[in-house]
Amino acid sequence: MLLSTRRTAVMRAGVELRVFDGLADGPAGADELAKRLGVHPRGMRVLLAALAAIGLLDVEDDAYRLAPGAEEVLVTSSPAYFGSAMRLASSDYEWQALGRLADAVRSGGTVLDENAETPEYSYWEDFAAYPTGNTSRVAAKLADLLADWATERPCLDVLDTACGHGYYGYTLAQRFPQAKVWDIDWANVLDVSVRHAERMGVRDRVELITGDMFSVPMGGPYDVTMITNVLHHFSEERATEMLTKLAQATKPDGKVAVVAITTDDRPPAEDPVPHLFSVLMLAWTHEGESHSMDAYRRMFAAAGLTPPRFHSLPGVPLRILLAERA
Ligand SMILES: C[S@@+](CC[C@H](N)C(=O)[O-])C[C@H]1O[C@@H](n2cnc3c(N)ncnc32)[C@H](O)[C@@H]1O
Repeated sequence: MLLSTRRTAVMRAGVELRVFDGLADGPAGADELAKRLGVHPRGMRVLLAALAAIGLLDVEDDAYRLAPGAEEVLVTSSPAYFGSAMRLASSDYEWQALGRLADAVRSGGTVLDENAETPEYSYWEDFAAYPTGNTSRVAAKLADLLADWATERPCLDVLDTACGHGYYGYTLAQRFPQAKVWDIDWANVLDVSVRHAERMGVRDRVELITGDMFSVPMGGPYDVTMITNVLHHFSEERATEMLTKLAQATKPDGKVAVVAITTDDRPPAEDPVPHLFSVLMLAWTHEGESHSMDAYRRMFAAAGLTPPRFHSLPGVPLRILLAERA
């Protein structure tokens, strides 16, 4: 634990300097790779040895090559490339927030003037620009879960609240030709979202609603309203307020979808991810945390919704919650 920041720094520098791309075509020595990447030979030598030390490269006779698995997740041309997730999870933004964790514990919430709740926070532009492979998988799973119901409907108007990259809505638009998507987020984030909508071929079926999701008129009613990976930024009370707005913007026979990191009945040591995420929320928001499944049941009931059905994917620490108006 003491040394894990060094490992993260080494991995991050390797990705930032495109060391893994540089070795994608075959092994190379430090001097040759330094030339290819335009960095100092001494710096390259030290970094390559450290990348080998943490198992991301193999070395033989001073020639470095990608370790098994590295090609799949660390070379940018790979469909399973995960390096962009580092721009988020290993970002200066998150590190600076976590660097004030003890202060956040003292005061019960973020002590940062600029934090995850700041309107038009620039971190959310990066978050929108670099969705992870998990995002596509969970978005596809949500489309699968809705498929039988959605295919039958002549109209499928979808509200994606705090959409970020917009993948959840755009995946529905790709899957269901009658779907139209309304995206809510801050203006700087929507500038990024629309680029994904264009790339995914659905821009002509996407409308933008710019501003604070708690106060901006949401329009509707919609067939599907959703809020993904957002409610854990807020207290149970504030999240319930948001869910109530969504419920009211949903057609009587529509669906409400939430994606969230949740705790369950397991002790923290058996399910560390949501507890470590809560720590980030403590350091970076005023009242957010990974809410429990029971807390979501309470929130859905208070918002006038049926009890949520929980769905998950193997290896992904997120749950999809689906409900209807009660
Ligand atoms: C963790 S990201 C979630 C993005 C996307 N829904 C997803 O599932 O990955 C949080 C998003 O909420 C947006 N957001 C946070 N507070 C907001 C507010 N009050 N009004 C509008 N958008 C907000 C941020 O700009 C950011 O894009």
